[in-house]
Amino acid sequence: MKRVAILISGGGSNMVTLVQSMTGDHPARPVLVLANNPDAGGLQKAADLGVDTAVVDHRPFGKDRAAFEAALMQQLSAANPDIICLAGFMRILTPEFTRAWQGRMLNIHPSLLPKYKGLHTHARAIEAGDAEHGCSVHEVTAELDDGPILGQARVPVLAGDTPDQLAARVLPMEHKLYPAVLRRFAEGDRTPVYLP
Ligand code: GRF
Repeated sequence: MKRVAILISGGGSNMVTLVQSMTGDHPARPVLVLANNPDAGGLQKAADLGVDTAVVDHRPFGKDRAAFEAALMQQLSAANPDIICLAGFMRILTPEFTRAWQGRMLNIHPSLLPKYKGLHTHARAIEAGDAEHGCSVHEVTAELDDGPILGQARVPVLAGDTPDQLAARVLPMEHKLYPAVLRRFAEGDRTPVYLP
């Protein structure tokens, strides 16, 4: 049984769908939900789902990313995960941390990578006049939003879409894509998942 830790910063809607997917004959189970923000709404949701939670507030560490990540590692070592899922986790990780988890850490990013790495992806897709947009799950490597793609889901961009309307169309697809990719990844299969 693979042990999965999920890192969040906010509401944790992706975390909820991942946790809810890991039942029955699924080869993985959630062992920890870890937030960098003590006010993350996802912490209560995780506790309600019976998953252990922890908080490592990044703010006391200031610019000292290494010290923040050492505290993350302390929490993670206790949970001893086989797989880490970043799910709405809004901190940039150092190459040292990503190297330590290389091949075992996934992230969901709200764009059709390699397009629109970084922030404000929905606004950028609208700005560019793209007909399609979506989300990607990728392995996390040292370069931001850059690792091997493990899945993508596409949605249309409609005339007059605001970034919020487009984000609202993408989010349900994230909730379908990430659990599908995690299951395959936990089975040792890196064949990308494409939706629809
Ligand atoms: C989502 O837009 C997702 O694309 C990005 O973080 C946002 C919030 O995700 N990764 P969640 O609801 O906290 O899972």
